[in-house]
Amino acid sequence: NGFDTVISGGRISTASDTFFADIGIKDGCIAALGMELGDAAEVIDAAGKWVLPGGIDGHVHLSQPSGEGIVMADDFETGTRSAAFGGNTTILPFCLQEKGRSLHEALKAYHAKAAGKCYIDVAFHLIISDVTETLLGQELPALVEDGYTSFKIFMTYEGLALSDLEMLKVMETARKSRALVMVHAENYDAIRFLTDRLEQLGNTAPKFHAASRPIAVEREATHRAIALAEIADVPVMIVHVSNREAMNEILRAQGKGLKVFGETCPQYLFLTADDLDGLNMEGAKYVCSPPPRDRASQLACWDGLERGVFSIFSSDHCPFRYDDPKGKLALRGRTSFRWVPNGIPGVAARLPLLFSEGVMKGRIDIHRFVAVTATNQAKMYGLAPRKGTIAIGSDADIAIWDPERKVMLTHDLLHDGADYTPYQGMEITGWPQLTMVRGQVVVRDGILEGPKDHGMHVVRDRSAFV
Ligand code: URP
Ligand code: ZN
Ligand code: ZN
Ligand code: ZN
Repeated sequence: NGFDTVISGGRISTASDTFFADIGIKDGCIAALGMELGDAAEVIDAAGKWVLPGGIDGHVHLSQPSGEGIVMADDFETGTRSAAFGGNTTILPFCLQEKGRSLHEALKAYHAKAAGKCYIDVAFHLIISDVTETLLGQELPALVEDGYTSFKIFMTYEGLALSDLEMLKVMETARKSRALVMVHAENYDAIRFLTDRLEQLGNTAPKFHAASRPIAVEREATHRAIALAEIADVPVMIVHVSNREAMNEILRAQGKGLKVFGETCPQYLFLTADDLDGLNMEGAKYVCSPPPRDRASQLACWDGLERGVFSIFSSDHCPFRYDDPKGKLALRGRTSFRWVPNGIPGVAARLPLLFSEGVMKGRIDIHRFVAVTATNQAKMYGLAPRKGTIAIGSDADIAIWDPERKVMLTHDLLHDGADYTPYQGMEITGWPQLTMVRGQVVVRDGILEGPKDHGMHVVRDRSAFV
């Protein structure tokens, strides 16, 4: 029969089914699922293990320009390496258009940064910061045709925030091109107002980052983003949802039959605003937007994952080193939380955290786990059926999990370029022991095997939901 690899005896789970079978792999694809597939150049014994589609992380920031004097902790080499250690086989980093530049320039730069430096497969989302007529009329439609079928727009951040009119124009282009718009929903003016007020009161410690963008800031923007999408008659993905009020805006729209999708992230299940209240500047390690909230918000996000309000669970990996003059405290002279770069690492911790706290503790079943971490990601972002499932003809993108392995999470297990993990010390049950991308073993038993040029850029189809 001549398989290159057979994975034998494992317990396979997809978004819909669990079954025991061997997987025969040929030329990077799954060629057969069956009993006793027999010999191959390499047989991987998966008895007692769970064989899952490799994770797809639809929300990752790598080598993204983050302001003068600040450097993101991961480039494509360390970011894809860390992702592989965490059981992922494809990530979708953002390609940021800088103001005054074209998207083509941005993509050229990002493809150069990624070339020959990816352990796993990548596909880019675009971030649109400069809404020009050329971008709307020519550039964006052409790029959608070329497989860049999703883009993110921001309602906050200096230099990124779009006006409602600009959002509507981008959405109109997306509707015509059948692309998927992702929205960062926070009210920029409200954040500026609250930040100024906090600073005037001398409230500048990292913990005040959370106070500068309370739930109402996110709820209002979520409501507005959905209304704008309804007016433009276009589907929309609300990324990094942190609490029940924002989630209820999504749920309400879904109830009306609108194509409104939601994403939540590990920081909203496992962190709270209290984490920002550390000694000295330690709280900066947890500064991200929207900020982690409280216990009730964590439960709401779990609820949204269980009930399907959120279709995807992504990391929003956006790493900055803590003990580094180019990292979290780069603008040391300026001590306010205002100057702390937003974002935390999570590309490697995402799957073990959800596996352990979700599947092992019975909050979600393994099918829901696979759906929100791989299958729905692939469908949402135009990678299905090639990726995101275990099926004949799909890429052999597979993670073999040891469901019993107990691990205390420490930063050294994650192999990223940061110098800390926000989830330090958490007790995890279940760990990805082997990660395979298109038939090539990339990580096995904690050892990096894959060549760093194995990862490919994937040209995407339209979202299955658009
Ligand atoms: O704080 C965050 N989330 N930083 C990453 C950029 C973004 O808004 O997703
Ligand atoms: Zn965002
Ligand atoms: Zn992000
Ligand atoms: Zn390319």
